Amino acid sequence: MSDPTVLVAADAGVATLTINRPSALNALNSTVLVELDRAVSALAADPSLRAVVVTGAGGKAFVAGADIVEMSAYGPQAARRFASLGHRVLAALEALPVPVIAAVNGFCLGGGCELALSCDLIYASDTARFGQPEVNLGLMPGFGGTQRLARRVGAARAAELIYTARQVKADEAVRIGLVLDVFPLADLLGRVHEMAAGIAAKGPAAVRASKLAIARGLDAPLAVGNALEIETFANLFDTADAREGMQAFVEKRPAHFRNA
Ligand code: HXC
Repeated sequence: MSDPTVLVAADAGVATLTINRPSALNALNSTVLVELDRAVSALAADPSLRAVVVTGAGGKAFVAGADIVEMSAYGPQAARRFASLGHRVLAALEALPVPVIAAVNGFCLGGGCELALSCDLIYASDTARFGQPEVNLGLMPGFGGTQRLARRVGAARAAELIYTARQVKADEAVRIGLVLDVFPLADLLGRVHEMAAGIAAKGPAAVRASKLAIARGLDAPLAVGNALEIETFANLFDTADAREGMQAFVEKRPAHFRNA
């Protein structure tokens, strides 16, 4: 049997998904997308899940795009199926109820950048390179780049990156708001896992409710988002963890959350 193209590891509520085709710089072919879909579905059903880290195997790439060799055989129907599959999988990743963090360890191009954009938070190594180079191939983004990149960095910057296909280094990616922070390659995964473990130690329902309110609110008018925040905030007062968190503060001791 061939190696899995998506590796799944779990540690204390933090799952790590590693795209594993290093010989093709982790390019996303149909097999990777189907395996990613399966992995994400399993995570979605896991009540002990607290955070997810997404990264790429090998020292060179996060994901260098959709698989160009596979796409070169496509006509419009196959292209529509492929784009739809990618959209479905990335939407499922984005909709996981816990924070999803991209640890971008090298080339993050085309479909790779679109994968990162489906994550709540993006951190990068100092070796990372971002871009939407599809127009070099006579193509355009097809896994959500025209939509999620514009929402993340603004329509004009997204348009510039998509029209010119230029690559952005990690420090510029921070400046334009695509990446939150940059670490030396050797430290990246450790730093991101530290962050994920920190999130995993907070009140689980509170973190999930925060993600829900941010995500739903961004797609809604401000008044609707604010009303959703009031509801989700109030519902947390039904949880033992909120009682514990506030009580622990009053008693000047650390809180012990039980996901209850
Ligand atoms: C298939 C890929 C690939 C890709 C790299 N490889 N990217 N195979 N699809 N997207 C393969 C190469 O063919 C090569 O295989 C091996 O990985 C190593 O890559 P090299 O090119 O030899 O490495 P290097 O010279 O360091 O250049 C790195 C690179 C370059 C700059 C990242 O590989 C590159 O430009 N890749 C394509 C980037 C791109 O255009 N991405 C967007 C794709 S379109 P062999 O067998 O020769 O060793 C897209 C659309 C999304 O993503 C939406 C779809 C619906």
